[in-house]
Amino acid sequence: MKTVRVNASRSYEVKIGSGLLETVGSETAKLTAGQALVVSDENVAPLYLPKVVGSLRQAGLTASSASVPAGEPAKSPEYYVNLLNILAAKRLTRSDAVIALGGGVVGDLAGFAAATYLRGIPVVQIPTTLLAMVDSSVGGKTAIDLPAGKNLVGAFHQPSLVLCDPDALSTLPEDVLRDGCAEVIKTAVLFDRDLFDHLRDRSTGFDREAVIARCVEHKRDVVCRDEFDTGERQLLNLGHTVGHAVEKCSGYAVSHGKAVAVGTAIMARAFSKDADEILSVLRAFGLPTETAFSPEELASAALSDKKRSGDTLTLVVPERIGRASLKKITVGDLLDVIRAGY
Ligand code: GLY
Repeated sequence: MKTVRVNASRSYEVKIGSGLLETVGSETAKLTAGQALVVSDENVAPLYLPKVVGSLRQAGLTASSASVPAGEPAKSPEYYVNLLNILAAKRLTRSDAVIALGGGVVGDLAGFAAATYLRGIPVVQIPTTLLAMVDSSVGGKTAIDLPAGKNLVGAFHQPSLVLCDPDALSTLPEDVLRDGCAEVIKTAVLFDRDLFDHLRDRSTGFDREAVIARCVEHKRDVVCRDEFDTGERQLLNLGHTVGHAVEKCSGYAVSHGKAVAVGTAIMARAFSKDADEILSVLRAFGLPTETAFSPEELASAALSDKKRSGDTLTLVVPERIGRASLKKITVGDLLDVIRAGY
């Protein structure tokens, strides 16, 4: 098992290891002696909820659960308010805890409910997808969506503990696992030549525990330097400006991970001296590097992105594998960048 300590506005551990799902009760009991509400979704609940609730009860905690439909629509104001009502009905207090058991959607929704109920109660993140293990469960971003766009309402609320059990990845559909691989490759392209070489050499047979831990360490380093996303943390958005545009143009039929892969490929072709290597690893993981949407369509969709500020937007530029920088461009330049990397 590996442990990564995050010293942000809250200090907490991210534990990564096989069998950690069995220890949720004893680990949570170190944080609270009261109640735990486990939030899950209809795909994850049948697989892991009985084990997690059983472990909490065995540790002497009062445990109950709430489930939401699987997928992005659960990050809605309606499900959020439902969750708040459940927390209130069960009379959870600031000495109790929300447990987010699932992928990025459950983590964001349950995390935001925990961030705002009683002005903030503890949340334990138990990510069950690769994407959530290497990215969304760590660093405290929580959010729900509005009809106007994704993640438009949210809060920074660091978890009190994160437990990543790579065994949970064995039940993940191949396609969802691939989505997580796009975020792992993104992390390597941004920060870590050795990690990139490991992914190139081992492809999908990479050492899961070691790779998750390495990605969490990189995320920890960035979050500790820029918790509130005013500078360096924006590096984590590599491939996301164009990626969000691909998602949007496809009516969200293209998954986040695959859209980020396309976005990373376009930014690599536009800027990186190592573009060929990056494209070849993305392809080796079965990820797309091209899109049928035109540069004009992508630029127009990207320009309605909430991360744009006024007439400029910040792009993440992959220079070499392991080295990237932020570049402010005017909105008018975006089309040229996309054309250059198309
Ligand atoms: N997922 C990007 C971030 O946490 O900043």
